[in-house]
Amino acid sequence: GAPVEVNISKVEPGQLIRVEWRGKPVWVVRRTEAVINELPTHDAQLRDPASAEMQQPEYATNPLRSIKPEYFIAVGICTHLGCSPTYLPDSFAEQVQGVTSGFFCPCHGSKFDMAGRVFQGVPAPLNLVIPPHQYVDDGTVIIG
Ligand code: FES
Repeated sequence: GAPVEVNISKVEPGQLIRVEWRGKPVWVVRRTEAVINELPTHDAQLRDPASAEMQQPEYATNPLRSIKPEYFIAVGICTHLGCSPTYLPDSFAEQVQGVTSGFFCPCHGSKFDMAGRVFQGVPAPLNLVIPPHQYVDDGTVIIG
């Protein structure tokens, strides 16, 4: 599969766009300041908070699992049995108390935060996969 160039210049804070890479859905989410601030607050509820299982390139092995804090890029496939989790920008607290935004897999109830880190007590064993990517300028990212 060829790399995919994505124009992110029009993505609004809080918005998620989907692109296809190697036949897989890839999400690009523009995280708000509030989401970025919320991410370090629930590490104790996560299965692999420091992403030791390396479901991301080395350059995205940091607390936000990204190159830029604002942009979260992930393969939108649940690490349990491959369903596509639903983005809940405002109503994730119904799934995990005290956490405003995240991803909920409707198939068997796995829950992921806004860095794609899996919560404890759900079937998904691993954090969401971060695909290889690079920024060519402020408004353009290449996936793959
Ligand atoms: Fe997502 Fe099973 S496929 S929880």
